[in-house]
Amino acid sequence: MIPVFRPTVGDEEIAAVSEVLRSGWWGLGPKTKEFETEFAKYVGANYAVGLNSATAALHLALKVIGVEGGEVITTPMTFISTNHAILYNNAIPVFADIEEDTLNIDVRDIERKITPRTKAIMVVHYGGHPCDLDEILALARSKGIKVVEDAAHACGAEYKGKRIGSFSDATCFSFHAVKNLAMGEGGAITVQDENLDRWLRRLRWMGITKSTWDRSEDVSKYSWYYNVEEVGYKYHLSDVAAAIGLAQLRKLERTNARRREIAARYDKGFADLEWLERPVERAYVKSSRHNYVVKVPKRDRFMAYLQEKGIATSVHYIPNHLYAMYKPYYTPLPIAESVWQRLVTLPLFPDLTDEQIDFIIESVRSFHPSRFSHDA
Ligand SMILES: Cc1ncc(COP(=O)(O)O)c(C=O)c1O
Repeated sequence: MIPVFRPTVGDEEIAAVSEVLRSGWWGLGPKTKEFETEFAKYVGANYAVGLNSATAALHLALKVIGVEGGEVITTPMTFISTNHAILYNNAIPVFADIEEDTLNIDVRDIERKITPRTKAIMVVHYGGHPCDLDEILALARSKGIKVVEDAAHACGAEYKGKRIGSFSDATCFSFHAVKNLAMGEGGAITVQDENLDRWLRRLRWMGITKSTWDRSEDVSKYSWYYNVEEVGYKYHLSDVAAAIGLAQLRKLERTNARRREIAARYDKGFADLEWLERPVERAYVKSSRHNYVVKVPKRDRFMAYLQEKGIATSVHYIPNHLYAMYKPYYTPLPIAESVWQRLVTLPLFPDLTDEQIDFIIESVRSFHPSRFSHDA
């Protein structure tokens, strides 16, 4: 079976993990610090705070920005973490519709949904295709509203020639096993403001003023004393994960280039299929191609057909406002509600071979939706 996603692992990651295991310091320590410095430099941000997931990043980003008791305008086309993070902060998710082609949040609908209670706009760079940040930031600034980016898919993506990571008030990354930069579990927030960086570091480590590593870096001055200034969380990144991340970061440009090459091959292979809509890439972005999502009729038939050929597919995502527990926040979103029924994610990961890609293209091309025209 060809999977939808698969992490790329080499001897570098294995050696990096061995080094940390032998070092005797596995938790929050020097490798995390090194990763944070390198990652901030890579995305062009002033600060990066290493965390154990993007879910934690989204929770803390909204907390430090201050949304409690207010409304956050958000997208339904995402993994549920994005919207649960709003609820963790005792704020109300207000869903805006999406653009049919990019599947990103629609700026015009954001504008319609702004009220005096709006505290923030949450955007997701779906599939690694950046949202139109100039438009979104201009709108937000004109109304005094903050912007948080869920960049879980967008590691290495570019908007108008600049990498995602320093545009808005806080950018949240995921290093989950299937992401472009994978650690197993991990995440980060990048910010530009020193005070936010300091606050986030405290919040990720139980509200404690100094991490154990910071207190023991100089053995001659080991200090057992620390203070706790607020309720924090156990959200920090570990050095084992950070070591994998450093190895992954060094090859990210290469693995992202391979993702783009695979996407281009798919684009070419499907170009003449009238029944299949390919993902778009606007002229002013460089997508990190986290996934390759097509729109097809008879979606479920199509998925079953590929499954029989040994090709796994998936659906990203069921619009979140349709989930049972989001009923209180339901609002009709015509585009999201119709387009998701045609979405299919095809396999895309750097180690996919050219033979596998050709086989997937050939298999997709041999599906003829008109054969199922009697179906609903
Ligand atoms: C768009 C989006 N946001 C947030 C997350 C959550 O990331 P993590 O698994 O690192 O918590 C994911 C992960 O699947 C995601 O795809």
